[in-house]
Amino acid sequence: MKKRIPFFAGNWKMNKGPSETEKFVKQLISAIAGDDAICNALKANEIEVGIFPPFVSLERANSAIKSADVSISLGAQNMHWEDSGAFTGEVSGVMIKETGCQYVILGHSERRHIFGETDDVIEMKIRKSLNLGLKPILCVGETLEERDKGITEFVVERQLKEALKALKTHQTFETGIVIAYEPVWAIGTGRKASDEDAQKVCAFIRSFLENNFGSRVAQEVRILYGGSVKPDNAKGLMSQKDIDGALIGGASLEVESFLGIITNGMS
Ligand code: 13P
Repeated sequence: MKKRIPFFAGNWKMNKGPSETEKFVKQLISAIAGDDAICNALKANEIEVGIFPPFVSLERANSAIKSADVSISLGAQNMHWEDSGAFTGEVSGVMIKETGCQYVILGHSERRHIFGETDDVIEMKIRKSLNLGLKPILCVGETLEERDKGITEFVVERQLKEALKALKTHQTFETGIVIAYEPVWAIGTGRKASDEDAQKVCAFIRSFLENNFGSRVAQEVRILYGGSVKPDNAKGLMSQKDIDGALIGGASLEVESFLGIITNGMS
């Protein structure tokens, strides 16, 4: 059974172009080099740190990462489900792979709610990413209205069922799919879910995996929490049994707060 390595992933959203990205990655690398606890944990493979810059900054991020002594994972925030073709304004998984990405975030609530991505579209993207050997971070989570109606688990289950349909046949969990529970009402609002509520939904996600794909998959797949994660709330979250990391938005844009989350989350 593979151990679930705590994963601290920074989703930059539409922030930092190529030059700012290069500057940030260099600062991040030197801050990590000066932090024995994080540096040693990375070298011993006890934690994973990843960044998710905008498409145009991926190549520059990759070059800066490659020059580092420690390994930092790289991913994109979205991709198209076809390899190439007449899809103006889109970027394919083949392309992001070529820029050095190992991961891709799929089904983020901003993609679902602002850009109208449906469960079907997300399912096609998941299937393509797995076929390409890109590890998807599948985001699920309920809106405030859905939470108030008491249908959080129903919504999360539907999102998981639809997005993971293909895995019934492919059984490609070996590729290293990650799931992120991000309650929509907690994103960018400063209103983090309580540790208990976040744990409850993450445990529900793990039981969904167990019921549908067996206990090995359920024990190996990492489940992250996202939504207003900050240095001062990382420890409580990371001490929950079914939370294996954090998908961090705003606080991943500054080296100090990003490392603060990693330090407190590791302790
Ligand atoms: P914030 O950390 O800014 O709330 O964003 C969370 C998020 O959407 C990460 O994907």
